[in-house]
Amino acid sequence: MPSRPSKYSEVELRVDSLAFGGRGVARLDDFVLFVDRALPGDLVRARVTKVKRRYGEAKVLETIERGPDRVPAPCPHFGSCGGCRWQDLDYPVQLRHKAVQVRDAIERIGHQHEVELDGIVPADRTYAYRNKLEYSWTDGPDGPSTGFHRAGRWDEVLPIDVCLLTDEPGNEARRAVESWARRHGLRGYDRRAHEGFLRLLVVRSSDRTGELLLTLVTTSDQPLPDVAGLEEELRRRAPGVVGLLHAVADGEGESAAGLETRVLFGRDWYEERLLDLRLRVSAGSFLQTNTEMCERLYELAIEEAGLAGDEVVWDLYSGVGSIALAMARHAGEVYGIEVVEEAVLRAVENAELNGVENATFIAGDVAKAVRPLLDGGVPSPDVVVVDPPRAGLTPKAVRRLLELEPRRIVYVSCNPTTLAGNAELLTEGGYRLRRVRAVDMFPHTAHVECVARFEAA
Ligand SMILES: C[S@@+](CC[C@H](N)C(=O)[O-])C[C@H]1O[C@@H](n2cnc3c(N)ncnc32)[C@H](O)[C@@H]1O
Repeated sequence: MPSRPSKYSEVELRVDSLAFGGRGVARLDDFVLFVDRALPGDLVRARVTKVKRRYGEAKVLETIERGPDRVPAPCPHFGSCGGCRWQDLDYPVQLRHKAVQVRDAIERIGHQHEVELDGIVPADRTYAYRNKLEYSWTDGPDGPSTGFHRAGRWDEVLPIDVCLLTDEPGNEARRAVESWARRHGLRGYDRRAHEGFLRLLVVRSSDRTGELLLTLVTTSDQPLPDVAGLEEELRRRAPGVVGLLHAVADGEGESAAGLETRVLFGRDWYEERLLDLRLRVSAGSFLQTNTEMCERLYELAIEEAGLAGDEVVWDLYSGVGSIALAMARHAGEVYGIEVVEEAVLRAVENAELNGVENATFIAGDVAKAVRPLLDGGVPSPDVVVVDPPRAGLTPKAVRRLLELEPRRIVYVSCNPTTLAGNAELLTEGGYRLRRVRAVDMFPHTAHVECVARFEAA
């Protein structure tokens, strides 16, 4: 067992790699330390903040020598803002690291060793790629301000002037809401004291249709003042805004997910274009946040599904129907299952909008809906596509999936570690993982998306 440094000691470290999640990895006499915000090749003076049996954590006090892959970060908020982690790491190195992460997860966690691993598809754009941003409100020096949580802080929000991950219409729409809030002297939410009025502002946008949809989340402290003035400000400064919604949240949770909304003006959906589809997306529905790379991802998923044209495909976790509709042109029949009813309604509408007649969408929890659907006469699938949330498939969902006995499973994953864990269960259930292809949807963050193909052994 290597000797361990003591907590709070100051140490000099050479960072040699990156860990899953993006922290630097350094060794002190073979004792592993995870170093926040350090990059490979950096020589740092650091304070040890945590010591466990097998590893510790350290915080950089000073960078003595900068690693060879560092580049200047273009964002004025980089470093303080908790949003991007790697703007200062050369993009090809980010890609290499993500490809290694995927390989490691599949081999070490999933114990899969005979898999074709294809490297990673780079992002077309490394900035202005996000179609959704969730800003938090705070009280800044100029009054109520929107921003992101400071790196590592749940209770502090950094007011931002610009976010380089979205485009100018998105930034301007946010600034317009800020101007209105300042004019009326509204208070940003204080996360420690649990008081204040303005909590979140969610901006969804499409640079293909030019449409933006905004959701303002407040507490119930007071009525919203001067909604007409807010509408006027938005229409003047951000004419692409097609709707503004309001939701109330008095609890401690910091998320707009699942909140009931009411329309303040306009409509409760915006339109996105994806492949050759028109998609109506409502405020509460999931859509991949990088539209361009979502197309690459779906193209890979369609390729891996290997459809001849007459197959039955089930799309589990189908959202607003985007994968199902993209696959419907290559399949006989497609069935989508999704738990958020609002998303299912949009999926049905999207099928009509695109003249797709061979796709059916069903509201339900995957783990509970599969058996009743089969009992009710829905044809069993030749191919199943799954695209679950980050936590992956629950063991029960895996069991239902195995009961379906598809000849192929295409697994779209935003988390290689849960994909790897599920791969092990699917392998035990009689499937073989054949290929994993990674796609970079989220430059400057440690996140990576994958498409994996399993075949019945
Ligand atoms: C990663 S998203 C994928 C959505 C869609 N396939 C797409 O590409 O836009 C996961 C989706 O699963 C849905 N979901 C989460 N848990 C579910 C469950 N237990 N049963 C069915 N759907 C679920 C979420 O609402 C979300 O729409």
